[in-house]
Amino acid sequence: MERTEIRKLYEDPSRYTVSEQTVCGWVRTIRLSKTFGFIELNDGSCLQNLQIVFDDQLPNFMEVSKLNVGSSLVVKGNLVLTPQAKQPFEIKATSVTVEGTSTPEYPLQKKRHSFEFLRTIAHLRPRTNTFSAVFRVRSLLAYAIHKFFQENGFVYVHTPIITSSDCEGAGEMFRVTTLDLDNLPRNNDGAVDFSEDFFGKSTYLTVSGQLSVETYCMAFSKVYTFGPTFRAENSNTVRHAAEFWMVEPEIAFADLKDDMELAEAMLKYVINYVMENAPKEMEFFNNFIDNGLIERLTLVKDSQFEHVTYTDAIKILEKADQDFQYPVYWGCDLQTEHERYLTEKYFKKPVFVTDYPKDIKAFYMRLNDDGKTVAAMDLLVPGVGEIIGGSQREERYDYLERRIKELGMKMEDYWWYLELRKYGTVKHAGFGLGFERALMYITGMQNIRDVIPFPRTVNHAEF
Ligand code: 4AD
Repeated sequence: MERTEIRKLYEDPSRYTVSEQTVCGWVRTIRLSKTFGFIELNDGSCLQNLQIVFDDQLPNFMEVSKLNVGSSLVVKGNLVLTPQAKQPFEIKATSVTVEGTSTPEYPLQKKRHSFEFLRTIAHLRPRTNTFSAVFRVRSLLAYAIHKFFQENGFVYVHTPIITSSDCEGAGEMFRVTTLDLDNLPRNNDGAVDFSEDFFGKSTYLTVSGQLSVETYCMAFSKVYTFGPTFRAENSNTVRHAAEFWMVEPEIAFADLKDDMELAEAMLKYVINYVMENAPKEMEFFNNFIDNGLIERLTLVKDSQFEHVTYTDAIKILEKADQDFQYPVYWGCDLQTEHERYLTEKYFKKPVFVTDYPKDIKAFYMRLNDDGKTVAAMDLLVPGVGEIIGGSQREERYDYLERRIKELGMKMEDYWWYLELRKYGTVKHAGFGLGFERALMYITGMQNIRDVIPFPRTVNHAEF
């Protein structure tokens, strides 16, 4: 069908006044007088609605008058500029075809619905302004990320979703099995025998594509993976999801400093890209979600990020004029309240925390000369906390082998990973950006459930 998207009309309305237009969409509101009425139509091509004016000249005037919000229409008519009115133009309908009616129970009426309520109708919420803006920006942000890496010579690698190794070593993996749970095969000592499973071994949904992407880094030098990752973390917070997307670049002949420079450049690039290409959406978030958003993001993309070592961060937190729920000591994991203090009260901007104690970080991170800390970095940002976790990788065979053994991990699961250190090993580094956390940061949305089309969290796998 020849149709004009509403976004096109807003780009240059005068172009469309010369001939009859066909527009399609869903009714957002309908107002009636005796002989005429107004419909606000939205087709999802942009945030704005299109005003349709119809009158009793329409052969199906009665049918159109009785339409409920949510109905879908094909409208033909002429575009008239209305510079004096609230909306800059409208369509005077010459025909309205009803594709699908709706009912008075349609849950999205013209009032503000709470995000909690909208989560219960995840199949309908993209039809609201907020979620229309969020998911348009989600799409744009994904594109901006690819654009950044492609323009900078990175090769996109599709790492596997089903894996047999635990990259982060945190044991938060979802098992993948075809075994009959009511009739599990057992070996002599009573343990489940996974050699009878589909892959002949234990397999899981990936928690990170890093280990796999490192192998490609050792061939292409600059690579990234960007895909879904899964964590069976039992943390019911506004920042944790069981299924989320991660952006993971990996660079060879590079150290932690190069890694942080890449992270900063990438984040600034994508913020800039979204602000330039989704101005209406960003204005919407600034007006309705977070009043200081645009000012804050503008500042971030134009300023240098801070750097602090974990050891110095602990000193800052120990001296803080604030009582923390979780005690601060060298060796503790930084909790949300600590991250918030550092980014929102102390530095007031994004900050890289580096050189964490080795005992609270993953096995693959490069041991520093002090023998106690590793070349790790987390990027913390105001409002969201940690959005990036990365490190320089341990490229020395003997160090890595020792660490794997020390942690009681199975050597046979990592033979291929160790071989990278045997054949032409190089300094290399990488990081993981939590895609949803970045999206929360850029939109001001407060809950990760509201930036994922169909969120999966503890006890929630509806839709
Ligand atoms: O710090 P993490 O665990 O790092 C890794 O997985 C590394 N293997 C990445 C790498 O170096 N290639 O996770 C990276 C980021 C976190 O900073 C956070 O933004 C996000 O992933 N993340 C989550 N986002 C939503 N829900 C969860 N449950 C998340 N866990 C981590």
